[in-house]
Amino acid sequence: VTAEKGGYEHFMLKEIHEQPKAYRDTMRGRMNAEGNKVILPELNLTEEQIKNIRNIQVVACGTAYNAGLVGRNLIESLVRIPVENDIASEYRYRSPIVTPETLVIVVSQSGETADTLAALREGQANGAHVLAITNVVGSSIAREADSVLVTLAGPEIAVASTKAYTSQLIAFTLLGLYLAEVRGTQSESEVTKILAAMQSLPEQVEVILSQKDAIKAYAEQIAEHKHLFFIGRGVDYAVAQEGSLKLKEISYIHSEAYAAGELKHGTLALIEEGVPVIALATLESVLEKTVSNIKEVKARGAHVMAITHEEHKDDLLRSVDQVFVIPQTLPLLTAALSVVTLQLLAYYASLALGHDVDKPRNLAKSVTVE
Ligand code: G6P
Repeated sequence: VTAEKGGYEHFMLKEIHEQPKAYRDTMRGRMNAEGNKVILPELNLTEEQIKNIRNIQVVACGTAYNAGLVGRNLIESLVRIPVENDIASEYRYRSPIVTPETLVIVVSQSGETADTLAALREGQANGAHVLAITNVVGSSIAREADSVLVTLAGPEIAVASTKAYTSQLIAFTLLGLYLAEVRGTQSESEVTKILAAMQSLPEQVEVILSQKDAIKAYAEQIAEHKHLFFIGRGVDYAVAQEGSLKLKEISYIHSEAYAAGELKHGTLALIEEGVPVIALATLESVLEKTVSNIKEVKARGAHVMAITHEEHKDDLLRSVDQVFVIPQTLPLLTAALSVVTLQLLAYYASLALGHDVDKPRNLAKSVTVE
């Protein structure tokens, strides 16, 4: 059994470690040799159609939905097209405003999620081009979509999704860069810089994986708690949502992800002595504001762990209890690194509590009922 798990104790741990490869495989062949252009022949959209896109709707469930939250951030920053995120089971029932100038992006690891498939059909019925980002080439969603951007994460067995999520982030980045090229919203030097930074991600993930003992020690600490909070701003908030979902799925610890600035409008009432708060603080542009939110929870007795880059470590150490440093990358790409820390955290918390990591109670890998 450990042979099929590549020597790892669980599929989830194996899949977490396969992320550097998944990043490389998902990028391979999708940029030119000069490293200044993204090539996506799988997109069945003419330049004309791309130039006419007026809005984008990203529709998915679970972890794929969370990847879409990061995707929105990427596309809006790179291309300046408005993006909405929808949970697939809600999408059809809110009468979404879909026109032939709408690009609908459905995201699904398995390509079989019933709600996501229904959203795809809804988009098509309204004349939109539906692009699927999926990990399974022959899946129902891949077969019915108008374009398919395949993530090359390889088979994902553990119920808690890891490498599929991060490969979806890579796919969104490539897509954003490609749309930006066609619409002329980014300079060649900017694209070159982003592509170079993307190519460093696999090694940077290795660095985080090599520090997993520190995350394990912290996970054993939080495993004793019943509730905890994740906070962040911008893309850090999107990552916080995935971190919270991962932890709930396999450790059964109740957690909430909050936009750091929103805490004071209600949730702050739940902070009491010793409650763990995990603060994602990778973005320079909002660091000062996040630090002031951290001080608000610290003042109420929270135990705060911050995830940040080396350059902000000393700043943060003055206001938090613990800091975990991730390698430096562009603000646009930070999710692809910080989330790995949270995957490991969920894994080790589940392990410490003696749960079935790969097959959590009540959950299925793929949900084919609406
Ligand atoms: C299930 C799985 C999740 C997954 C979600 C969407 O709930 O347990 O890990 O994120 O379905 O699956 P999909 O295959 O569409 O990405």
